[in-house]
Amino acid sequence: MNNQTTVETIRNLLREKNAVLLAHNYQPAEIQDIADLCGDSLELSIKASKTDADIIVFCGVHFMAETASILSPEKTVLLPRSDSGCPMADMVAPDALREKKAALEGVPVVTYVNSSAAVKALSTVCCTSANVVAVVRGMDETELLMVPDRNLAMYAASKMNKTVHLWEGYCPIHDRLTLDDIAKARKDHPEAVLMIHPECRLEVLEKADVVTSTSGMIRYAENSDKTEFLVGTEIGLLHPIQKACPDKRFFPVSNKMICPDMKRISLEDVLNSIETLEGEVKVPEHIRKPAYTAVKRMIDMS
Ligand code: 13P
Ligand code: SF4
Repeated sequence: MNNQTTVETIRNLLREKNAVLLAHNYQPAEIQDIADLCGDSLELSIKASKTDADIIVFCGVHFMAETASILSPEKTVLLPRSDSGCPMADMVAPDALREKKAALEGVPVVTYVNSSAAVKALSTVCCTSANVVAVVRGMDETELLMVPDRNLAMYAASKMNKTVHLWEGYCPIHDRLTLDDIAKARKDHPEAVLMIHPECRLEVLEKADVVTSTSGMIRYAENSDKTEFLVGTEIGLLHPIQKACPDKRFFPVSNKMICPDMKRISLEDVLNSIETLEGEVKVPEHIRKPAYTAVKRMIDMS
């Protein structure tokens, strides 16, 4: 089947089965181009909680499909490739978190959505890169634990006067961006606005003109009167940002920023998934209920 036929068959099946296709901003261009909605983690979570489709085909990584299942338990949530995981989400296991919570006696837990449903179920509230500062600031407590991303936690802590306990997790793709990469990018593109994702190290964030989520970067570029931008996140974002601003120029801060997990899903995988309904992600009810409380609290605070 050629690409055009595959795309048409997918769109027909989505219509017949009352299914919606969601894609994260890092997905391959051909997946984003056929999706009903592309977005950052927060936008996709909100969409998953509101859609009246029977089936959600989630083109992203496992924790994103789980979040959709947490929010819409009555729907079938499909992840076209079960091996699309997130190394950062794997850096916090429920037992280790239980131990840490016991040691910190009652300190609330703010959990990045890049985590398993079982970890969310042990959390007070979730956050994404788009709302982390609002969520942490919105909490009454002045002492909290943030998991699993130490960089995101340090970023939030730098914005307010609260005691934030860190977890030693990180995104291998964002954490590898260095000050040398930044210096080189600035030298190559001296006029460009430097946008950096908060999963990067604090020392790198301190050099940025703008720190925001993937969709935050798209909105910023759309609303700016500047014409050149350096994009400091996974390079998949270059596709939707260039599409949203065809007359502006975008450059990756580093070509090393490629997440292999975000690149696994192909058009054939999407077709197979919607045809066979294989690859369902379903969160068991005893985990879903407490996880729902943490995710819902986040959405209400956004
Ligand atoms: P956002 O799109 O929410 O900024 O997330 C980045 C990310 O790393 C998702 O895996
Ligand atoms: Fe996980 Fe980083 Fe890949 Fe996002 S970019 S899915 S945080 S490894």
